[in-house]
Amino acid sequence: MVTPETEVVECDILICGGGMAGCGAAHEAAYWAKAKGLRVVMVEKAAVERSGAVAMGLSAINCYMGMKWGENQPEDFVHYVRQDLMGLSREDLVYDIARHVDSSVHMFEEWGLPIFKTADGRYKREGRWQVMIHGESYKPIVAEAAKKALGEQNIYERIFISHLLLDKNDSGRIAGAVGFSVRDPKIYVFKAKAVICAAGGATQVFRPHAVGEGLGRIWYAPWNTGSVYKLMIMAGAEMTQMEHRLVVARFKDGYGPVGMWFLLFKAVLKNAYGEEVEKKWADLLKEWLPYGGGKPIPTPLRNHQMIRDHLEGNGPHYLRTDEALQAMFAQVQNDPKKLREIESDAWEDFLDMTMSQALLWASENVDPAKVPSEVVLTEPYLMGSHASGTGAWVSGPEDIAPKEYFWGYNRMTTVRGLFAAGDGVGGSAHKFSSGSYTEGRLAGKAAVAYIYDNPQAVEAESDRVEEVKKALFAPLEVYEKTRPLTTRGQVNPDAFGPKQALLRLQKIMDEYCAGQGAGYITNAPTLKRGLELLHMLRDDLSRLAASDLHELLRAWEVWDRYYCAEAHMRHMLFREETRWPGYYYRGDFPKLDDANWKCFTVSRFDPEKSEWVLSKKPYVALIP
Ligand code: FAD
Ligand code: ADX
Repeated sequence: MVTPETEVVECDILICGGGMAGCGAAHEAAYWAKAKGLRVVMVEKAAVERSGAVAMGLSAINCYMGMKWGENQPEDFVHYVRQDLMGLSREDLVYDIARHVDSSVHMFEEWGLPIFKTADGRYKREGRWQVMIHGESYKPIVAEAAKKALGEQNIYERIFISHLLLDKNDSGRIAGAVGFSVRDPKIYVFKAKAVICAAGGATQVFRPHAVGEGLGRIWYAPWNTGSVYKLMIMAGAEMTQMEHRLVVARFKDGYGPVGMWFLLFKAVLKNAYGEEVEKKWADLLKEWLPYGGGKPIPTPLRNHQMIRDHLEGNGPHYLRTDEALQAMFAQVQNDPKKLREIESDAWEDFLDMTMSQALLWASENVDPAKVPSEVVLTEPYLMGSHASGTGAWVSGPEDIAPKEYFWGYNRMTTVRGLFAAGDGVGGSAHKFSSGSYTEGRLAGKAAVAYIYDNPQAVEAESDRVEEVKKALFAPLEVYEKTRPLTTRGQVNPDAFGPKQALLRLQKIMDEYCAGQGAGYITNAPTLKRGLELLHMLRDDLSRLAASDLHELLRAWEVWDRYYCAEAHMRHMLFREETRWPGYYYRGDFPKLDDANWKCFTVSRFDPEKSEWVLSKKPYVALIP
C-alpha cells in the first residue's frame, strides 16, 4: 500500500460542501472577508459545478416570497411551515430565511438563471411558495458565482471531509477538518478558525425501493451520505429533530417529484378504484387536530391518508396526469400552440430535474396526457431543507431569536466557531434550494463576524491529527492484509466491503426503524433491538476493507450513514409520541401529545465516552 502524502492548508474560514448552502456561504463570506484579508476555502467531495442535490438541475425554486409584488410576507411563511411541520419549527430561523430569500433568487436571475414570467412580468408561480425555472443549469450558474467570489485557488474539489478538528486548548472550539482526495493517495489537513458545515442531507440510510442494480435510483442525491450530521455529531455539537425524516410521494421507480403536478396541473391522487384519496380519508385528519384541520394538509398527513388507503387494499395509487392534462387542454380549447406549451412544461419538469423519470416514461410508452402514473411513498431521508427539519441546534439571529435560541452568532452550533447551513440546520424546514443558499449566506456572514471578534489562533491536537490520518487509510490496509483469505469475489472470513456493510445497515433500519418495508411503524422494543444490531454492525466496521480509493470513499460514507442511523434511532426512542404520522408511527405511543412533546428533542454525543445524552428544548412561538 502506498503511503499517502499530507498537505496542510491554512485558512480562516473552511466551508465543507460546495452545494447550494456551501455556494451561498462562499459568495457571502468572500465579500465580508475581503476587508480583513481573511482566507475562505471551500472543499467539495465532487466538482462544485455539478455537485449535490441540484447537480442535475431543478424545475422550480420552492422557496420564494415575492415581497416586491406583495405576494407573501415572512410571517405568512412562518405560518405555513408551522402548519406543515405539525406545529414544531424554529420560527426565528424560518423567519430569517423568509426575509432574505428573495434577494438570493434575484441574484440567481441576474447571473443568468431563466425564470418563467407571467404577462405582467412577475415570476410564474407553480404554487404559493414555488416559482418555475428553466433550471437545468441552476447549479453551474450558482457555482460560477461562488468560484469567482473565492478564487479558484481557494476551491478544493474531489476531497471528502471525514473528521472535524477541535482546538487542543478548548474542546468546545473548532480548529479545522481532515479529508482525503478521492483521486490520489493524499490527505488534507485544513486548519481554520471557523468551519461551515454544508455537506447536504443523508440518503440510503434506509433500504430504498430499488435494490440490486437499481440501488442508487432514489429521490434525494445519492452522494449526500450524511457527512454533515456525522461531522457535527462527532465534534460534540448538539443536534435537534434527528427523529424527523422526509417521506414523500414520488412517481414510482423514476422518483420524479410530484409538486408541479399537484400544484400547477392540479392532478389528483386516486386509488385503483378511481377514488380520490384526499376526499375519501378527509375524516382521518380529525384525529390529528389542530394540524389536521388546517390548510394545506401537512405533508406527513397526506402520506398518512395514502398509507391508510394502501392498508385497506386499494392500491396501486395513481396520479391522474391524464385527467389533469386533458382538463388543461380543454381550457385552451385544444389550441395546438398552447397545447404544446403545456406538454413541454410537463416534460421539462423532469428533464430539468429528474431525467430518469422522463426516460422511464419514454421507455414504458407513457404519454402522461393519456395514461396515469403510479405513485408510491419513498424510503425515509434525513434532511433539513424539504418538509423535514433534521440537523444541528444552532443560534438564531440576534434581532429576533428568543433568549433560549441565541448564543452570539447566527447559525453557529453549540461548538464555538462551527456553523451549519442547508440540510445541516435543524428545526427549520422548507428552505429548499433558495433557502439553503440563503442560509449559507447568513452563516457565511456570521462566521466572518465571529473571526473579527475571536482573532486568536487555534490549533488542533497533533496526536488527534495523526490518529485521524491513520484511521483514514485503515480500510485499504485491512483489504491488503485479509486478501489471501478471500474465497470468492467479496467473500472473506475476516473482512467485508462497503456495499455489504451498507446493505446490512439498510436492512436493520428498514426492519427496526420504521422503514418503508415495515410500513413505517416501530415501537420501543423494536428500536432497542435495532440499536443492539446496529452496535454489532459498528463493532464489525473496524473490518471494513477497501480495494481502492473509490471503495475508501464508500467505506467512509458507511460511517456517515452509521452515525445518522444511530442518532435517528435514539431520537425516535426518546420522543414517546407519534407527531408526524405518515413519516413514522410509534405503535406504543400512537397519538400526538402536545402536552409533553410540543418541544424540540436535542442530543449530544460525547466522543470521548461514546455516550449519547438526550434532552428537550422549548418550542417558542415567534409570531401569533
Ligand atoms: P446540497 O445542495 O446537496 O449540497 C451538499 C454538498 O456537499 C454537495 O455538493 C455534496 O457533494 C457535498 N458533500 C457531501 N458530503 C461531503 C463531504 N464529506 N465532504 C465534502 N463535500 C461533501 N429545491 C427547490 O428549491 N426546488 C425544486 O424543485 C427541488 N427539487 C428537487 C429535486 C430533486 C431530485 C432533489 C434531489 C432536490 C430538490 N430540491 C429542490 C431540494 C434542494 O436541492 C435542496 O434543498 C438543497 O440542494 C439543499 O442544499 P444543501 O447545500 O444543504 O445540500
Ligand atoms: S421537490 O423538491 O422534489 O421539487 P416536491 O415535488 O415534493 O419536491 O414538492 C415541490 C413543492 O411542492 C414543495 O414546496 C412541496 O412542499 C409542495 N407540494 C408537493 N405536493 C404538494 C401537495 N399535494 N400539496 C401542497 N404542496 C405540495
